[in-house]
Amino acid sequence: MIKIAVLGYGTVGSGVVEVIEKNHDSINKKAADDIEIKYVLDLRDFPGDPVEKVLVHDYNVILNDPEVSIVVETMGGLHPAYEFTKQALEAGKSVCTSNKELVAEYGTELVRIAEKKDINYLFEASCGGGIPIIRPLNSSLTADEIDEIEGILNGTTNYILTKMAVDGLDFDEALKEAQQNGYAERNPEADIEGYDACRKIAILSSLAYGAHIDYRDIYTEGITKITATDIKYAQSLGASIKLLATSKKVHDGFYAMVSPVMINAHNPLYSVQGVFNAIFIHGNVLGDAMFYGSGAGKLPTASAVVADVVDCAKHLHKHIIMNWSSRPLKLMDIENVRN
Ligand code: HSE
Repeated sequence: MIKIAVLGYGTVGSGVVEVIEKNHDSINKKAADDIEIKYVLDLRDFPGDPVEKVLVHDYNVILNDPEVSIVVETMGGLHPAYEFTKQALEAGKSVCTSNKELVAEYGTELVRIAEKKDINYLFEASCGGGIPIIRPLNSSLTADEIDEIEGILNGTTNYILTKMAVDGLDFDEALKEAQQNGYAERNPEADIEGYDACRKIAILSSLAYGAHIDYRDIYTEGITKITATDIKYAQSLGASIKLLATSKKVHDGFYAMVSPVMINAHNPLYSVQGVFNAIFIHGNVLGDAMFYGSGAGKLPTASAVVADVVDCAKHLHKHIIMNWSSRPLKLMDIENVRN
């Protein structure tokens, strides 16, 4: 029996509980063990909810329980998520997370602690919602030297842009729908100003290039200046506006940016609608590959988190090497990319 604790019972945390309940037989078979949720940590109470039986309000209960071998961090935000994650790893408990803010800020350090302790810090759900992208980068694509990543990495902004273009909704109405559907961040500024996509491209670039990429280096512009007129203008040219995150490995550095871009109908990203995300990867042996699917939302994100729980269960006392070193990679200016 593998006992786990889920930190946070919001959109993703409650999704994790739901997925583990819904698919418990097949999940247990794939993990080759029974996975049981021993605790859910949340400050709120949930009277009448089955989770009430395992609800705790004090993190020390989880930390000091030697039976808990995997902690699922779905609290979001930097603090106390960072402290809780570090304490869990140092206590020899593997951690799975959907918290891209934390992975972008402290990933380099947390991956090192997991390595030292021979356990795992896994973060498949941090980029692309339910789309497998972290694991492919770290396993299926390891024969390649990845030199380019480009994609739509934020579901909320793609949903807003789609609703404005297809249904004629105004920006605020479309954002409200994205919030109601559970796609947007608690503070949606992170979505619409491009910060969320920026953190995700930094995480993907760190793993793809085996280095430490500081997300603060990445030029970032969101979609708040996009008007209905811009969208109509793009449509009149047979194009659409997408918030693209791009990263290229050049010489001994990298170049990355996040910005709204007009793309024409021949580009496969043109038809990525609504909450869907898509990510292109270019490798020097493989050539192009594209990953596509639900980029946000409760169950798709929880699906990625639970897959990490299964991987942790399969590698309980064995660290899965992550191609993410602490070597900083220099940001190049655009001229070096073009030459
Ligand atoms: N707010 C994020 C998005 C959630 O819209 O993509 C998934 O990371």
